Amino acid sequence: MSDPARDDLHQPVLPGRGASDYERYLRTDELLSLQKSPEEQVHRDELLFQTVHQSSELWLKLATTECDEAAARLERSEVPPALRLLRRAVLCLQYVTTQIEMLNQMDPWEYQQIRVVLGHGSGFDSPGFRQVPRVTQRLAKAFDRLLAQAGLDLIELYQRGREFEELYLLAELLTEWDERIWLWRFRHYAIVARALGEDTVGTQGTPVQVLGKLIAQRQLPKLWRVRSRLVELFDAERANGVA
Ligand code: HEM
Repeated sequence: MSDPARDDLHQPVLPGRGASDYERYLRTDELLSLQKSPEEQVHRDELLFQTVHQSSELWLKLATTECDEAAARLERSEVPPALRLLRRAVLCLQYVTTQIEMLNQMDPWEYQQIRVVLGHGSGFDSPGFRQVPRVTQRLAKAFDRLLAQAGLDLIELYQRGREFEELYLLAELLTEWDERIWLWRFRHYAIVARALGEDTVGTQGTPVQVLGKLIAQRQLPKLWRVRSRLVELFDAERANGVA
């Protein structure tokens, strides 16, 4: 028997709030009410500020979910599906880094009005960023186990990358993940410096200069150190007339 609602493609068939299935599936009513209304705002740029932060949280949620699944695949020695998931996660970090540029559109004097309504809110409490070190360490552990299973150390993997293509691609994607965290920190620091200056203290008491120091931190230091070792090894071999 024909169902008139299903026959009319303009009528919603999904349960939930909203006039169309688009609104019901995406829950746009709730999503678009998560920002302060103009009456609640102390400055109209609060919409810009909340949009950048809220969308960053969404991309970070996707990134860390994909990293967790990638780590689970690696723990089962399934490298190719993990590579696909890690590529997505890296792209998420790229988006978070690109969109933060929007905050440079705020006037530093007018931003003062927003700063004082943030309470003790600080990026250190970002649920998305708090997951980043955890998933990174889970990935690192799974990678180390795969290397050990292949009977390789990192230097051998990089010297014989063509023989161990999947593991090599994994090492490079993990390096890129770490690099994207570093690049985000760098852009965030520059944006904070433009909004607040470098001699200021943040909403939770952290001097802005501490953020500058965090840029030097690496989540996966072994993947960076190996490159210096390769230079040393190559130079030593060349000095001995081997390379
Ligand atoms: C005008 C824009 C921004 C300003 C002025 C700002 C300011 C700051 C300050 C001062 C800190 C140090 C902690 C404290 O509050 O005392 C901090 C940390 C942090 N902020 Fe922001 N922030 C901005 C935008 C963002 C955005 C869009 C995100 C994305 C979610 C973010 C995420 C973080 C994170 C994760 C930290 C911890 C530092 C780290 O792990 O490197 N911030 N921010």
